[in-house]
Amino acid sequence: MADLPGGAAAQRALDLEKTADWFRRFRLSETPGQSELYAGWAAGVEDDAEVLDLIIGLPRPKRQPNLVFSCARLLGAPLAGYPVFRRWLIEHWPAVAAEARVRATQTNEPRRLTAIMPVLASIGPRVALIEVGASAGLCLYPDRYSYDYSGRRVDPADGPSPVLLSAETTGPVPLPEHPPAVVWRAGLDLNPLDVRNPDDVRWLETLVWPEQTERRARLDAAMAIVREDPPLLVAGDAVAGLAALVALAPAGVPLVIVSPAVLVYLAQEQRAAFAHAAPGFGRWISLDGVGVLPRVDALLPETPVPGDYIVSLDGRPVARCGPHGQTLDWIAG
Ligand SMILES: C[S@@+](CC[C@H](N)C(=O)[O-])C[C@H]1O[C@@H](n2cnc3c(N)ncnc32)[C@H](O)[C@@H]1O
Repeated sequence: MADLPGGAAAQRALDLEKTADWFRRFRLSETPGQSELYAGWAAGVEDDAEVLDLIIGLPRPKRQPNLVFSCARLLGAPLAGYPVFRRWLIEHWPAVAAEARVRATQTNEPRRLTAIMPVLASIGPRVALIEVGASAGLCLYPDRYSYDYSGRRVDPADGPSPVLLSAETTGPVPLPEHPPAVVWRAGLDLNPLDVRNPDDVRWLETLVWPEQTERRARLDAAMAIVREDPPLLVAGDAVAGLAALVALAPAGVPLVIVSPAVLVYLAQEQRAAFAHAAPGFGRWISLDGVGVLPRVDALLPETPVPGDYIVSLDGRPVARCGPHGQTLDWIAG
């Protein structure tokens, strides 16, 4: 790279360092207990100047480890150790890069409803629901799934669901007898996915990490439920598109806006604009990693641990949970 002008060479060095660091942080904070394969791939990429050089050719947000690995798997990357994966990745890089440029991580995890359903039930037995950042809308069906909270079971009013969402709980989680009825549901997303579209289904399945067979089975079962009665999903931005969707909601039932695992994708000022606007439209339930909504974090009784996810109602924290709803620690009185 001796022929790069000084500024460009420095920028490239910084890009390489930041991308290596992104893969390192991904390995250390996201893969433990989740995917040994991805941990191995991330460890390999961290120290691989040739592969890092390919990855920094992508726009910055597209260098996300989960996106790069998912696009590679979508195109048939072997689920093998790093040396084999690396060879495949270099050979197929133009196709992987093209895929990464048009895709985004849109992991749809209905298990997050273990954290959201009790908050929803505290609002009323019947609600109208808007999900912002809905992906394929699987979190718009809290009334169609069964739940297990450390052995305490909540089933839909018409009987157990084929999809069981479970969480290990601590604290006084307030559980209803049945999940509240959703009388109207709609989702907003920059790029809504459709469970009736085989390409979207394949992408959703690929976003589940290789070893997570239980998650994939849950995803498939939830998609089967949603396919029977697909939701209204509107393409639009969380901030700019919300008012138009709210205008479609029925009167006479509480309107609840949920925003699980989406605000992290918004710039700080957009997040602030959303947090300001959402409570004006109805009740607002959010589920975000620590640091995404600093005003919510500041109201926590204890200093949050990086990696915690916080569930909030109208900007006040009610619980901590695992990123996929696998744990739930109730903190509200
Ligand atoms: C990680 S997924 C979460 C999906 C779903 N909420 C869940 O918890 O399973 C984030 C979703 O937010 C969407 N998204 C990202 N930025 C957005 C924005 N500015 N406005 C609307 N949707 C956005 C993405 O397209 C993606 O589908």
